[in-house]
This record gives sequence, C-alpha cells and structure tokens, in this order.
Amino acid sequence: MKKIAVIGTGYVGLVSGTGLADFGNEVTCLDIDEEKIEILKDGELPIWEPGLLELVQKNVKSGRLSFSTEIPQEIQDAEVIFIAVGTPSADNGEADLSAVYQVARTIGHNLNGHKFIVTKSTVPVGTGKKVREIIEEEAAPGSSFEVISNPEFLREGSAVYDFMHPDRVVIGTETEDGHEVMQDIYRPLYLIETPFVFTNVPTAELIKYASNAFLATKVTFINEIANICDGVGADVHMVAKTMGMDGRISPKFLHPGPGYGGSCFPKDVKALHAIAREAGYDAQLIDAVTRVNEAQKSRMFTKLQKMMPELGGKTVTLLGLAFKQRTDDVRESPALPIIDKLKEVGATIRTFDPVAMDSMKKRHPDLDYFEDIYESVRDADAVMILTEWNEFRGLDLQKMKTLMRQPNMVDARNLYDPDTVRKTGFKYACVGRETYSEELA
Ligand SMILES: NC(=O)c1ccc[n+]([C@@H]2O[C@H](COP(=O)([O-])OP(=O)(O)OC[C@H]3O[C@@H](n4cnc5c(N)ncnc54)[C@H](O)[C@@H]3O)[C@@H](O)[C@H]2O)c1
Repeated sequence: MKKIAVIGTGYVGLVSGTGLADFGNEVTCLDIDEEKIEILKDGELPIWEPGLLELVQKNVKSGRLSFSTEIPQEIQDAEVIFIAVGTPSADNGEADLSAVYQVARTIGHNLNGHKFIVTKSTVPVGTGKKVREIIEEEAAPGSSFEVISNPEFLREGSAVYDFMHPDRVVIGTETEDGHEVMQDIYRPLYLIETPFVFTNVPTAELIKYASNAFLATKVTFINEIANICDGVGADVHMVAKTMGMDGRISPKFLHPGPGYGGSCFPKDVKALHAIAREAGYDAQLIDAVTRVNEAQKSRMFTKLQKMMPELGGKTVTLLGLAFKQRTDDVRESPALPIIDKLKEVGATIRTFDPVAMDSMKKRHPDLDYFEDIYESVRDADAVMILTEWNEFRGLDLQKMKTLMRQPNMVDARNLYDPDTVRKTGFKYACVGRETYSEELA
C-alpha cells in the first residue's frame, strides 16, 4: 500500500482518491480551490454523488484520507502522485492541457527521491511524454520518476460503484516497477480478478478516447434513428429494444434523447477529432458525431417551437437541468442551449431539478427555481422534460394540466407513452415516437 497524493479534487480526483484510500492506501486529495478543500475538511462534499459522503467519512475517520491545498509539501511526501485535474475543450476542439502542464511543473519543482506520476485525467496521446519532458526540465539532479497512464472510466451518478467495480483497469507503463506499484495500489481489485490491461502509455491514452467516442457514437446513432422514426411513423423504442437483442449490438447506450452532454463525451469526441487531425487523418465519423449531437440539442427546441410558434412572453418550465440523472453536473447539459434560446425569444423560464439547481444558479441566476415540481409548472404554457430523473416518470398529468396555463409537453427523454399523455389532453412531442400511435399500429 502506498502514500499517494491526488492533485485535482473534482469528480474524478475525489472519487478516485477516496476509493484508493478505501483500498488501504494513505491518500491526500489536493486542489488549488481553497473553498472546495475547506468544504471537505468540514466533513461535507463540494459535489453531489450518491454514496460518496459515507465513503469519504469512513476513510477520513480511519486516518487514510485527508485534504489539503499544500501541494508542494504533499508532492514531496508522496510515493505516487495522481494527476486528476480538468482537461476541458479549447476553442479549436483540442483538449486544454494547461492545468495538467502546470501540475507537471509543480511536481518537477518539488521532486525528491523516486516518484511515480500517474495521469488519471483524460489526456491526448503524447501528453504522457510531454509531462515527462516538463518534469525533467524542472527537476533537481538526483531525483528520478516514471510517468504512468491510468485513465478513469467512472460515470457520474454511479462513480463510487464504478471505481470499486471497474470493467477493467487500464495501465500504461513501460517498466516492471511501474507494473508492480500499480498492482499494489489496486490490490483489492486485483484479488477479485478485475481485468487489468497493461500496455504502453500512448495506447492507454487512446483507449480512453476510443471508448468515450464509441459510446457517444452509439447514443448519436440511436438519436439519428429516432429522427428517422419521427418521419416515417415508426417507434424508436421498439427499434432500439430489438436491435439490442442482437448480442453484437447490446441494449446499452441505445436510449434516444436530447443529445449527449456532460463533462466528458462532448470534449473527448472533439479532442479525438483533433488528435486525428494532428496525426494527419481526417476522422470524418468522429467529427459527424459532434455535429449530429449539436443538431439534436437544437431539435428539441424546434419541437417546442412547432408546438408554440410564438414563444415570446410565454412561460416554459424545464424539468431537469443536470446533463443526466443522478448528478448535479450541468456541464454541456442539453438544458443549456435551450435556456439560451428561450432567453433569446423572450420566454420566462421556470425550472425544477432534484439536485442540480445550485449548479445551474451559478450560470443562470435569473431563472425561476422551484423546490416543488408542481409549483414549477403552475401557469406555464409548456413543460419540457430534459433529464431522465425517476421523479419525472410518474407525474400526475391530470394535476399538471390543471395547474398549467396551456397543456404542452416536450418529453425529450421519452419518459411517457405518447397516447397516454395525449389522451390526458396534452399536446405532446417526444423523440422518435412523434407520429407513432398504438392505435395505428
Ligand atoms: N467527470 C467524469 O465523469 C470523468 C470520468 C472519467 C474521466 N474524467 C476526466 O478526469 C479529469 C477530471 O475531470 P473532473 O470531472 O473530475 O473535473 P473537475 O472540473 O470536476 O475537477 C478538476 C479539479 O482540478 C482542480 N485543479 C485545476 N487546476 C489545478 C491545479 N493546477 N492544481 C490543483 N488542482 C487543480 C480544480 O480546482 C477542480 O477541483 C478530466 O480529464 C476528465 O476528462 C472525468
């Protein structure tokens, strides 16, 4: 078991750091965001993630997990340093690696003895090499290190479970020592026979992008099929379900909706396209995924506009702000472009989300936020369901209709059966079941 410093205490750094502590390592989670570290030191969480608070508390109590902003000191004390800072999209679609490089400089500057530097952030192929060069430039003579790649595959909303039960652990290392140290850190997973994939650093870096881009492509594919269904009177649910019965396809990630969002798929698909471009290859499929996904987000607003051509002065309730259920993350959420468009046309926006309202208030403090779903639809001219929260699946439609000024609904997650909602008296639009009716089937 190792003494570990995790630099970057966001969704990935906090979950991984806590998980590694639970595996028996001694972990300090570090960040430049003092407020975040203070919240953690006070025994609370800066993010909402199911099951995380209990695991953090358990490991803090055991003395294996702590939080600090003293990055240089912790680098010096650690045997293994994980880099888990953000790698957002730059304007040209490439991953912005400024935080990773800044951390690499700080590590180099404080290097003492022999250290293993593990990149957990999602970084383009070649970043491991660049990190190594930066550390070499900064490091004092006599120190030594190895850069290892260990991309993370956890999903927000089930991040703790995913970290503890990964489908595989990917490790890019070119030495026996690197191999051994990573096996040691992840020993409990090793013991339960989790598949470990050992490869070189560039391959490990690419595995992460290829995996995310494939999943984003699958989501985009079924969205495109849904749009075709809308035009031909077919039911995308039946199509997706039956496609999923084919073992080669599998039913996962075949849920049509308002386009993927979040902090990973959009930026990783764009970054993979940029990686290919840099390597002299025009990755047309990958590029198309981004374009089709953007169009899908706009399509949800068009559905609303078709229902209500004059939106100026109208009140629209958005149910769901998070980019998916079970998270408070609103990064690249499909709700964001819809909010922008509703503001442009002069509509009043009311909204409800079980956990993501605080995150959205930081970007759009001027929306009307409600703590109660039914209060949020009172006097609304239309409601849009944008996140697949379970709370939205069993709404009292009759009650909603009574409360609303006009019963218009765009169900961007297909939570309802079209005929049932229409029979309640709603004008109803959804994704890929638009013109489908049980009565005509
Ligand atoms: N969020 C996910 O579901 C997920 C899943 C797998 C991989 N990833 C990847 O993991 C990485 C981190 O993602 P995230 O969602 O945790 O990001 P995040 O924005 O939630 O967290 C990043 C943290 O790094 C801190 N930070 C930035 N610069 C720093 C510096 N110089 N020194 C110390 N701390 C610094 C920030 O303050 C922030 O707390 C990204 O590369 C992402 O692509 C994310």
